[in-house]
Amino acid sequence: MRLYRFGKLGSLDALQIHEEDVPRPGPGQVTVRIRACSLNHRDLNIVSGTYTSVALKPNAIPLSDGAGEVSAVGPDVTRWKVGDRVAPIFVQRWIGGDLLPEYMPSALGGPSDGVLAEHIVLSEEGLVRIPSHMSFEQAAALPCAAVTAWNAALVKGNLQPGHTIVTLGTGGVSLFAAQLALMTGARVIATTGQDEKTERLRKLGVHEVVNYRTTPDWGARVRELTGGRGADLVVEVGGPGTLANSIAAIRYCGHISVVGNLGGKATIDPGTLFAKRASMCGIQVGSRDMFEAMVRAMEVAKLEPVIDRVFEFEEARAAYEYLESGKHFGKVVIRV
Ligand SMILES: NC(=O)c1ccc[n+]([C@@H]2O[C@H](COP(=O)([O-])OP(=O)(O)OC[C@H]3O[C@@H](n4cnc5c(N)ncnc54)[C@H](OP(=O)(O)O)[C@@H]3O)[C@@H](O)[C@H]2O)c1
Repeated sequence: MRLYRFGKLGSLDALQIHEEDVPRPGPGQVTVRIRACSLNHRDLNIVSGTYTSVALKPNAIPLSDGAGEVSAVGPDVTRWKVGDRVAPIFVQRWIGGDLLPEYMPSALGGPSDGVLAEHIVLSEEGLVRIPSHMSFEQAAALPCAAVTAWNAALVKGNLQPGHTIVTLGTGGVSLFAAQLALMTGARVIATTGQDEKTERLRKLGVHEVVNYRTTPDWGARVRELTGGRGADLVVEVGGPGTLANSIAAIRYCGHISVVGNLGGKATIDPGTLFAKRASMCGIQVGSRDMFEAMVRAMEVAKLEPVIDRVFEFEEARAAYEYLESGKHFGKVVIRV
């Protein structure tokens, strides 16, 4: 089978294709024939060697997100049979309850081996059934970006019908957050730095779009758009460069789910958060229980993930370059 492994990290030259034997499942494990993978922002940081919060296993297989079908089951497997359509969960050991730090080494694509391979072996506990209405390309978009959006908006964010949510930019997490919020009956205010993406956001059903480049104090604009009340929830993927605006955008006693760090520098006055009596919490993707709940909801709503482009297996480098260019709207996928 063909697979990628990281060589020396630091540039896209680290993506090296190999041929190896198809791995065989041990007790409690299954082999998954991967049919599609998707990229997340962290994959750019990992390959460039700037993702310092984890010590990557040497020669690890890249990417956390994929979907495929079970091709072999090991002894004692009870959850799956050959042919089942599945996706891996991001933190393999996080089944339910609170995330514990000792689960983190089991995160796929860094530090553990990922999914950019024709076949992978995982514990039978580390998989979920994919939505029946989705193709493998669509389902490959779910494990990190969609589950993060589900957790940030609906679990920790407690989004309710009639709430107003703010999403930042048009990457994977933010578009899933917008789609899940629309499914919930919430009002969505989306930001983007590129006017040409405005129409696509509107087509998705987003209610208001604000360009964060031409409206640098977009937090104040969100307050205007909500009649001075502010938004109930911000899914904060920007980090230091956007947090002050997110606090400005939020309503009294609103909530900010802190998901990402896309750059910038800022000094945040904690008094601005206190003045709003607002809450803020960090998000790490989500558990298997959350992923399964999200699959059920997506099946009822027939939600269709926004896939921008699909690359072939041999074009993995081009897929990374495309994500890095920032031209994407939604998810970048690799067919395996
Ligand atoms: N905590 C977690 O568990 C978790 C999980 C997933 C992702 N993340 C993090 O969340 C962030 C987003 O990840 P992703 O995979 O969704 O990213 P992505 O698909 O690469 O999308 C990034 C998008 O963000 C927008 N953007 C860039 N700079 C921005 C800024 N200053 N203000 C607002 N928007 C900006 C751009 O959209 P426009 O072109 O429309 O401006 C860009 O396309 C990353 O930092 C990632 O590491 C964290």
